[in-house]
Amino acid sequence: MNQYSLIGPFKQLLTMTGMPIKGALQDSQLPIIENGGIITKGDEIYAVGHFSDLKKEAQDLNAKPINIDSDLVCLPGFIDAHTHICFGGSRANDYALRNAGKTYLEIAQSGGGIWDTVTQTRKSSAEKLVTGIKDRADRHLHQGVTTIEVKSGYGLSVEEELKMLNAIATANKTIAADLIPTCLAAHMMPKDYKGTPEEYLSEISTTLFPILKEENLATRIDAFLEEGAYSAISIAPYFKKAKEMGFDITVHADQFSTGGSAVAVEYGAISADHLEASTETEIQLLANSNVIATALPGASMGLGCNYTPARRLLDAGASVAIASDWNPGSAPMGNLLIQAAVLGTFEKLSNTEVLSGITYRAAAALGLEDRGKIETGFLADFIAFPTHNYKEILYQQGMLQPTMVWKKGRLVVGQ
Ligand code: NIG
Ligand code: FE
Repeated sequence: MNQYSLIGPFKQLLTMTGMPIKGALQDSQLPIIENGGIITKGDEIYAVGHFSDLKKEAQDLNAKPINIDSDLVCLPGFIDAHTHICFGGSRANDYALRNAGKTYLEIAQSGGGIWDTVTQTRKSSAEKLVTGIKDRADRHLHQGVTTIEVKSGYGLSVEEELKMLNAIATANKTIAADLIPTCLAAHMMPKDYKGTPEEYLSEISTTLFPILKEENLATRIDAFLEEGAYSAISIAPYFKKAKEMGFDITVHADQFSTGGSAVAVEYGAISADHLEASTETEIQLLANSNVIATALPGASMGLGCNYTPARRLLDAGASVAIASDWNPGSAPMGNLLIQAAVLGTFEKLSNTEVLSGITYRAAAALGLEDRGKIETGFLADFIAFPTHNYKEILYQQGMLQPTMVWKKGRLVVGQ
């Protein structure tokens, strides 16, 4: 089999290179190669440029030609930096109750909410969890998402969290997209735990964290900081321990009330996600840090509440990623492109800001330096939309779908 391929010409090739990690971006900053091409070498990108310039090089390399004979716009595979796609059951009842006027917290207190999904996930077999993850990841792949972060957090005991993280690892071996696991054992206080929140967190950090390391099940630790979940005080020793052990920290922050983003900044988290309730104080705090602010428009749509103040975050100088938060409770839709496009309309974001938020800035939110851009040495993860103008992609608000998806140099969607 030939190691090299020359793919193109693409009407427009959006490399997403050379742009800053933080702050506002204009469409004039977007690097576009007209009639661009890519030479891949195995699972990596070997060269990027004008198709006509690459042809000679490709010949010398004896590259296999993959000719594109229609108008396609190519960009890096999308990265969904925050999901909960490992779960059992459904929360359609919660959704109806919310639309009838009950709040997220009221529903949680009366037997619905996260605990309902914990019960249903604990009842699911490992095989069923794996199938659920695979089906959702495959749907994402067809929408151009080639890297998907997946959280645990519906197990809430050492054993049940391990069941989830093992299911994520198993699914990861058999699907085309890459799954990036995160341990969210601090999603809420398990209702059946006999002890204090501090004791529960201490048990998780002393028992589960070492297993995650040994078995390579997760390098990221997340916590939900909110009334009804964990407080800044109760989470402190947990995050301290996680940091000491070399885990990356990420936080569900400022979803309904503020406080989480300050914790994220204090512990040098890689990202603070949600931020729907963030005020000017939190916006400034995040903008003056290296924490990526991850907007989750799918949760705003699922809960019918306001969007993350992405415009103000960007203008203040923060880095904004956009993720789906796909979960059975607050964000059941699970369509990253629709959600990112809609966030753009409500928050007045440029095409470049939205596309950055689901490519290289999302890669940064996961600490991944090998993807999110079409650049030599990066993974050959790229997608192509059937249009001649990149602006059509967000304009069509997620209804224009990629017809070709390459993952690690392999065409996994399209022919
Ligand atoms: O990101 N906010 C906390 N966690 C999830 C919701 C999980 C659920 O409701 O099942 C979120 O929105
Ligand atoms: Fe979430």
